Amino acid sequence: MEVLSDAAVAIEDDRIAWVGPRRDARERYPNSEVMDVPGVLFPGFVDCHTHAIFGAPRIDDHQRRALGESYQAIAAAGGGILQSVRDVRARSANELEQLARNRLLTLRAHGSTTIEVKSGYGLDLETELKQLRVVQRLARNERLSLVPTFLGAHEVPPEFRPRREAYVRLVIAEVLPVVAREGLAKACDVFCEPGVFSVAEARAVLMAARGHGLAPKLHADELEGCGGAELAAELGALSADHLAGISEAGIRALAATDTVAVLLPATMSFLGKPRQAPARRLIEAGAAIALASDFNPGSSPTVGLPLVMSLAVSQLGLRHSEALTAVTVNAAAALGLAHDRGQIAPGFAADLVACAVADWREVAYWVGANLVTDVWTAGFACPRPAGPVSLGFHVEA
Ligand code: NIG
Ligand code: FE
Repeated sequence: MEVLSDAAVAIEDDRIAWVGPRRDARERYPNSEVMDVPGVLFPGFVDCHTHAIFGAPRIDDHQRRALGESYQAIAAAGGGILQSVRDVRARSANELEQLARNRLLTLRAHGSTTIEVKSGYGLDLETELKQLRVVQRLARNERLSLVPTFLGAHEVPPEFRPRREAYVRLVIAEVLPVVAREGLAKACDVFCEPGVFSVAEARAVLMAARGHGLAPKLHADELEGCGGAELAAELGALSADHLAGISEAGIRALAATDTVAVLLPATMSFLGKPRQAPARRLIEAGAAIALASDFNPGSSPTVGLPLVMSLAVSQLGLRHSEALTAVTVNAAAALGLAHDRGQIAPGFAADLVACAVADWREVAYWVGANLVTDVWTAGFACPRPAGPVSLGFHVEA
């Protein structure tokens, strides 16, 4: 990481063309439009793990957990992931799109210019496709890069509870091929956790996905740990995400490969879990760390990466520079985009974020403040939201 003072960035079309001292910029680009940016200019932040297509927030789950109910008890009482599945199945694509637009533009207003978005609240062919098509439409219509991931194996849907193998077969034989044929996802993810999908089931889904040209990713070792990180390394996955329950062998496996360890400290904090992923041990072993919001209605209604960076410094023991690298270069790598974004350097996407700070470290310091003043994607300034935007429900303008 390098910090430049009194610098200029030249943008041509949707790319960064040049970075250098401000005094040289005029001579090199005499006819260009000039914008003064007070504060600090960062590469646009990359949020490499979200579940941003959902209906209602799950506020009851939040309070039940606060009063000591377990995740399993909440699910048994009708909450949890399956509550969002019933909700998403019942809503129209248009309604989901309007809800997701407000939410994604809020993430952008906090500095995220590239956002990975997973399906996984459909758990049947029709609804998984509905979610991914909403992502595709938003990607076409909004100034934002969205990277779609198919997460059909997020949970076993109620209608397959007595015969889970049949659901895994459905995902592999019927859903994946359509998702791949229609070009609706770049990657495929599986929630690999005791009680959800086993390592063997995850391996079967991800090998099939790879066969269809989708890059493997994994929700791995989130709570208990069962070898998910090792599986991610074995498959050459883009990333292994969560990792609060990762084993020593898992740390060694990730350190030995290019698979990025994506840590989600806002999730553990929102769930009220005392345990966080062993970030320092991962870094010291030689693994690459990225950070993401995990934005979703159950475990992380977190809209900004600056807050995640702040938690990463305070709760995971990251240096400020490690936290910044984790939402830019390394987060881009977790999406297979390290060559294309996450850096202010010639040839990279002109995705930039300006923050009203004097010291770049302030972005991870003022807890919960939104210090973003301007956002550019593909070389264009994005409109600023006029005021607070509703995240919970859709309000007609
Ligand atoms: O990443 N771990 C599984 N999936 C989400 C939670 C989704 C939900 O509760 O709706 C996560 O934390
Ligand atoms: Fe997640």
